[in-house]
Amino acid sequence: MTVEEKFGSSAARGTVSTDNAVNRKELFLRACRCEPVPRAPVWIMRQAGRYLPEYREVRKQHAFLEVAKTPELAAEVSLQPWRRLGVDAVIMFSDILIPAEAMGLSLELTDGGPVLPQPVRGSAEVDALRDFDPEVETRFVGETIRLLCRELGPDVPVLGFAAAPWTLACYLVDGRGREGFPATKTMMFNKPKLFRRLLEKIARVTAGYLKAQIAAGVAAVQLFDTWAGELAAPEYREFALPATQLLIGEMDIALNEANNYVTPVILYSKATGHLLRDASKSGATVLSVDWRVDLAELRREIGADIALQGNVDPCVMLGKEDDVVRAVGEALVATGGKGHILNLGHGILPTTPVENALAFVRAGQGWSAGKANIGEEEENQQHRHSEEQQHG
Ligand code: CP3
Repeated sequence: MTVEEKFGSSAARGTVSTDNAVNRKELFLRACRCEPVPRAPVWIMRQAGRYLPEYREVRKQHAFLEVAKTPELAAEVSLQPWRRLGVDAVIMFSDILIPAEAMGLSLELTDGGPVLPQPVRGSAEVDALRDFDPEVETRFVGETIRLLCRELGPDVPVLGFAAAPWTLACYLVDGRGREGFPATKTMMFNKPKLFRRLLEKIARVTAGYLKAQIAAGVAAVQLFDTWAGELAAPEYREFALPATQLLIGEMDIALNEANNYVTPVILYSKATGHLLRDASKSGATVLSVDWRVDLAELRREIGADIALQGNVDPCVMLGKEDDVVRAVGEALVATGGKGHILNLGHGILPTTPVENALAFVRAGQGWSAGKANIGEEEENQQHRHSEEQQHG
């Protein structure tokens, strides 16, 4: 049975209604601001990727970087999960390492992940990193966003992204994803001034890169601090956090003219239960967390003003559909669906069955109209009934 046969074709066309006449962009922005919503918005980190057969088809013909740098191809693969799953937000297809190349480093995307053959190790290399013009060096990113916005119209949020300074530094200094990022930490411990200079440079360059994405039309941006969990709290506070604060401050989000509203910044991090109180002071609008975190507890800890995103374990998506639906329910119950963007706790895995991805989105979008609210509605009816009896 195809996905379309099983769930109907509306999801494939991306026409799932958001109820109460709230369009997807409005829904997403309200959730970011912790305002009342008819239901929580849903999208999936790495939603454009190898678990989708149509993505693998494109990748048979084109190398990863070619897809990322060709706006028509990048827009096409960004739209694949929208058509197939009817998600509530479309993230542009790119990679967090794209700005590294624009800063002057060579970049290879191998099957084992990204590789920078000439990593940054000393002061001369930090100084040589270029503060690039995003509309020139990464023009294809803006073009992809403009194509997406044109295709999707004003009612669907397009999301931009970049790496947070610490996580980009991990790749720039170690040159690849490496357990514990030993070269990066060696620079941090032995040459703290140089390391801070590197982080600040990344923060400023990334702020310009994200501003260009906002000018091109994204509704919100996500910062990926995937490797923040490698840090103990003192180093997070001394290095990673101030650089993230600098970046968010430099973006001038409060004065963003392109959007006419404060552009939300979603800060994703992984394995950071010990850091989230600090991360809540980053200036981010939304904290995106992994499955180790209890969302209800985090909500109590950081208060009601910062929205949360997450946090289903991507491995649940490898199992039974019923378990996916249950995990979605548990995540949403933890927040009451308020100030919450439903997502996974990390990127969707390439071996995920598409049916489970669709079940995830459907369960999330159906939740407030589903059990929790039906329960409430039944209660209200019972209440009305008993009132009628009393007064009648
Ligand atoms: O979310 C989306 O759909 C948008 C696209 C996106 C990609 N990478 C495409 C990609 C996003 C948001 C990223 C972010 C990214 N890239 C992160 C942060 C998020 C995370 O998952 O932790 C990191 C650490 C990277 C670096 C990176 N790029 C790695 C480690 C790898 C190899 C591992 C892997 O998943 O394949 C990549 C390559 C990459 N980036 C792929 C995709 C779809 C797979 C490449 C392929 O098509 O063969």
